[in-house]
Amino acid sequence: MDKKELLFYDAYEAFYGMAKKSNAFQKFCKDAFGEDFSQDGFSNIEQINMILQYIPQKDNVRILDIGCGNGKMLGYLQEKTEAYICGFDYSEEAIETARFLFPKNSEFREGVIGEIDYPEENFDVIISMDTMYFAKDMTAFVNQVKKWLKERGVFFVGYQEGDVIPKTENMHTTMLSKALVMNGMKYEAIDITEQTYELLKKKRISAIAHQNEFEAEGYRDWFDMLIGQTECATETFEQFKEKMARYIYVIRK
Ligand SMILES: C[S@@+](CC[C@H](N)C(=O)[O-])C[C@H]1O[C@@H](n2cnc3c(N)ncnc32)[C@H](O)[C@@H]1O
Repeated sequence: MDKKELLFYDAYEAFYGMAKKSNAFQKFCKDAFGEDFSQDGFSNIEQINMILQYIPQKDNVRILDIGCGNGKMLGYLQEKTEAYICGFDYSEEAIETARFLFPKNSEFREGVIGEIDYPEENFDVIISMDTMYFAKDMTAFVNQVKKWLKERGVFFVGYQEGDVIPKTENMHTTMLSKALVMNGMKYEAIDITEQTYELLKKKRISAIAHQNEFEAEGYRDWFDMLIGQTECATETFEQFKEKMARYIYVIRK
């Protein structure tokens, strides 16, 4: 498959190039999300810390991140748990950086959702923050994730509606929840839409605080993108929640 034909491929190559070079962006992430994981999404440090409770305290624990970007979330989880970290992403730029930043006890692969494969029962925890929507066939992809997960493993997903995909009624009507039911996977979900509204406000304030640095680095276009992305946080919460929702899913085999 020609990756360039996939949704947002060139945009993500450019994004991870900028994330590597821009001090303004790194500072913005730290301010907005509590930690710089080069987020192009909605995952702050509270959400990533939630994952820690699902990582077993034993030897040879393996974690997979679907849409791992430059690996910074995995690097953080490894620092906290000493797990063996695996990640894949279609961005060549991101995977190159991940391999450079986290060379120990790790495996980063350039791969496309729906094409890449791993052996059965291979991971204790699989995470996917703001990436599941890129699956062309969500049910088939969830089936693959189920296969990769160990018997008692946990699949942890950060899922945004109203950004890449439209909002549905609630956490049980999303494309993901339907794919989980189709695959007989049990889940618990929590609604963090209100926290996400507050996060988007913080993103906007943090971007503005670093505007001059973005401009001095020649990254005015990325600053403009952040402002565009957070426009919805200038509305009231009532208006926001009509269009956007965020859920955390904790899924078992
Ligand atoms: C919204 S970003 C989320 C990145 C990171 N997980 C986070 O939370 O900040 C989506 C990620 O998925 C990757 N991606 C998008 N479509 C993909 C596909 N079809 N196959 C593999 N990776 C993909 C992008 O390169 C990007 O790193």
